[in-house]
Amino acid sequence: MEVVIVPDATAGGGLIAGAIADLLRRKPDALLGVATGSTPLPVYRALAGLAGEGRTDVSRARICQLDEYVGLPAGHPESYRSVVLREVVEPLGLAEESFMGPDGTAEDIVEACAAYERTLAEAGGVDLQLLGIGTDGHIGFNEPCSSLASRTRIKTLTEQTRKDNARFFDRPEDVPHHVITQGIGTILEARHLVLLATGEAKAEAVALAVEGPLAAVVPASALQMHPHATVVVDEAAASKL
Ligand code: GLP
Repeated sequence: MEVVIVPDATAGGGLIAGAIADLLRRKPDALLGVATGSTPLPVYRALAGLAGEGRTDVSRARICQLDEYVGLPAGHPESYRSVVLREVVEPLGLAEESFMGPDGTAEDIVEACAAYERTLAEAGGVDLQLLGIGTDGHIGFNEPCSSLASRTRIKTLTEQTRKDNARFFDRPEDVPHHVITQGIGTILEARHLVLLATGEAKAEAVALAVEGPLAAVVPASALQMHPHATVVVDEAAASKL
């Protein structure tokens, strides 16, 4: 695992956008796995900047989602589909067809999870998966004690994660209880994992993930098993390393 300490979130965003640009030069139709939350936004801004200046051709890039809330109506502004379309797909000028994600509105969620695994496999697998980290060490929505071999499935959010994500909703009780997430085993199949963490609130989780034992109680520690994992942290998030 490679750990890169950057001065701040903007620098982290620029560094990762540069790595994505390099990948797209080598493989113009690379499948980019994106994460939601506040942390990756500087990456998307920097990448859209590179594309806008004509320094990166993103026109053939494909985008896939890491996770999704279950039960939010289609088009809800906080469904992760809406968030990824708004923050990534539209700013990069990509067509909606270049984007894939699990269906959190499906009647049959178990089948929707299996279908998403098939979609990712048929797309040739994820080339670069961007990850954030929850304050409890989760990646995607794999909460503590998720199996390290897990596949895409439905999960119940912990109260901590619902609290952390309440800022995106009108009322705390509006945060869904259930989600679909790529499993840890699914995430580990991406060719390159890039985890970005910024701010002191993430310092404990980062230290446990990077320096602690490999443990299901800290899902992000699974990155220790990956042959090409990069952890980009600002000084605050690195403060407990
Ligand atoms: C959610 C997402 C994760 C993300 C996490 C942290 O739980 N499912 O993918 O990493 O939030 O979000 P933030 O970056 O806003 O702290």
